[in-house]
Amino acid sequence: MSPSVGEIVLNRELIAQHFLMRVRLPVSWATPLPGQFVMVRVRDGRDLLLRRPLSVYTFDRNENSLIIELIYRIAGKGTFALSRRKAGEYIEILGPLGHGFDIFPEMRKIVLLAGGIGVAPLSFLASHYRELPTGNQQEIISYLGAKSTDQLVGADKMKELSTEMRISTDDGSSGHHGFITELLADDMESFTGGNSVVYACGPSPMMRRLAEVLNGQPIPCQVSVEERMACGIGACLGCAIHVKDRGDKTSVSHGGTKDNEPQYKHVCKDGPVFNIRDIIWS
Ligand code: FES
Repeated sequence: MSPSVGEIVLNRELIAQHFLMRVRLPVSWATPLPGQFVMVRVRDGRDLLLRRPLSVYTFDRNENSLIIELIYRIAGKGTFALSRRKAGEYIEILGPLGHGFDIFPEMRKIVLLAGGIGVAPLSFLASHYRELPTGNQQEIISYLGAKSTDQLVGADKMKELSTEMRISTDDGSSGHHGFITELLADDMESFTGGNSVVYACGPSPMMRRLAEVLNGQPIPCQVSVEERMACGIGACLGCAIHVKDRGDKTSVSHGGTKDNEPQYKHVCKDGPVFNIRDIIWS
């Protein structure tokens, strides 16, 4: 796959350190699925390390144009360089990449758990569910967690898409004072295996706690893993994740062939979406 060149339409700070970038791409660009990502070249140059993986936040195609939106947080030099890019400039984008979320049109309750910037792929997923023929009958219950009110990104859009939305902040400045997984744990008895599916994206501690909350519950759960990536296409081995050995030959074995030895998968190629129960949250 070759990268496409898009025109930056907008690159604006939404809240402190969090930006929304809108890019116009060639109409021939493939339609992304919720959970898929793109590799964005933050500035000119051939270095692979100039690329950053960003989840697709919105996607809109008509006859004459194709627009995607991406949300990112300044977390280092690369994303800082990206934040300096201006409308009217051109930017190289590779994608859509990876495996997105599975869709369950038969489920009545779609539960979304987002930590920080993890709201981006889940917001796209919520839009996708709303566009299904069954979209009006499905309840979308979203849980958004952040460090503080001024770090809550994407809440307005998620609220529009949700039947119900709950918020937590670590400092108690909005919603529940504590972790978002605590709110979900309190509500767990209203979700059952036959009618609910959980999707999540956020920092590893949140995902680890979610895995504990769901332990023993027959509820499907898919998570989009946030991982550092250099190539985004399975070529650099820089995004390995530790998974349970289910005899899957696509796993990368390290150190022999015995049962129960560590197995790894590539977040970029095998994910970024995984069954939460396949990941070893060390
Ligand atoms: Fe290079 Fe995944 S980012 S293999």
